[in-house]
Amino acid sequence: MSALAWTDELVLNQPELDHTHEEFVELLNRYADMLDRGEDALPAFKELLAHTEEHFAMEERWMAATGFEPENCHSSQHAMVLNVMREVVRYAEDLGDREPLAIVRTELSQWFPGHAEMMDAALVYTMEQRGFDPKTGECRDPIRAAGSAEAQAADPASAVSACGSTSCGH
Ligand SMILES: [Fe+2]
Ligand SMILES: [Fe+2]
Repeated sequence: MSALAWTDELVLNQPELDHTHEEFVELLNRYADMLDRGEDALPAFKELLAHTEEHFAMEERWMAATGFEPENCHSSQHAMVLNVMREVVRYAEDLGDREPLAIVRTELSQWFPGHAEMMDAALVYTMEQRGFDPKTGECRDPIRAAGSAEAQAADPASAVSACGSTSCGH
């Protein structure tokens, strides 16, 4: 059984991100299928981890280019997820414990849609608002350093910008 289906709700209308997210879902399902078949799912999981590292790094480059603070809740959530995934590998490889490898499948399947629909969607929205083109790396109107006098004067809202998600209390 697939861990997660690719549905229209997951489409954010940002071609590069949608492509990356589709690959994420594919790799997640491949690893889940290995578990279902009772095969060694660790290599597939490590492939998913490597892809996720790239995926998050790409989003974080976009955040930096549009003026997000380095410490924002979207990046923190990425760091948390990578931590868990790396722990799963450590448990399997160093401790010979594969239970987390089986459990994290459900965690990731439940986590991803909410993250994409809130945090990643908010990032795409900010990119559009700021006129950022990931292909050229050009940003028409980046958020200025939060809290700076310049930022306050130019746009009071920019000073409080963290991840841009309404679900975020920052
Ligand atoms: Fe994402
Ligand atoms: Fe993200």
